[in-house]
Amino acid sequence: MLYCMITEIEQTEKQKEMETKTETSVVSKLNQLLIDYQVHYQNLRLFHWNVKGPFFFVLHAKFEELYREAAEKIDEVAERVLALDGIPKGSLKNIVSKAHVESHEEIMEANEMVEAIITGHKILIGDLNAVLQAAEEESDEGTIDIFTSYIQELEKHNWMFKSYLN
Ligand SMILES: [Fe+2]
Repeated sequence: MLYCMITEIEQTEKQKEMETKTETSVVSKLNQLLIDYQVHYQNLRLFHWNVKGPFFFVLHAKFEELYREAAEKIDEVAERVLALDGIPKGSLKNIVSKAHVESHEEIMEANEMVEAIITGHKILIGDLNAVLQAAEEESDEGTIDIFTSYIQELEKHNWMFKSYLN
């Protein structure tokens, strides 16, 4: 009886340990990035379609450039999850319930759209930092190698958008 209880406690502890490990693993951080990137992508498409005003031509083209870039990144993130034996998250249910990037409305001022994209980039940078930290803890050099440049690219986009707004 006592043995059974101890085994049960050990199993619960092990389960807790595994759950904690899953939460902090590279795969779960990559999946958060993947979910947020998909919302960000959808915002970019929406803004590409609906932007209005004197800077229509500039922003319409810029949002398209960025959503094409985001589509490639999304695929790369998902394929890294698969390379690490994970399951890439992409169901609308998962996206809606777990995204940290806000899903925006169709009608917005052009500058508000730019600000929303800057905020989206900041959230993605946060996700990427979490990926890199987990990858360092797990000595996952492959992940570090792929995603370090993502942060630099997003920071560059934000510098340009901030210059646009000033
Ligand atoms: Fe288009």
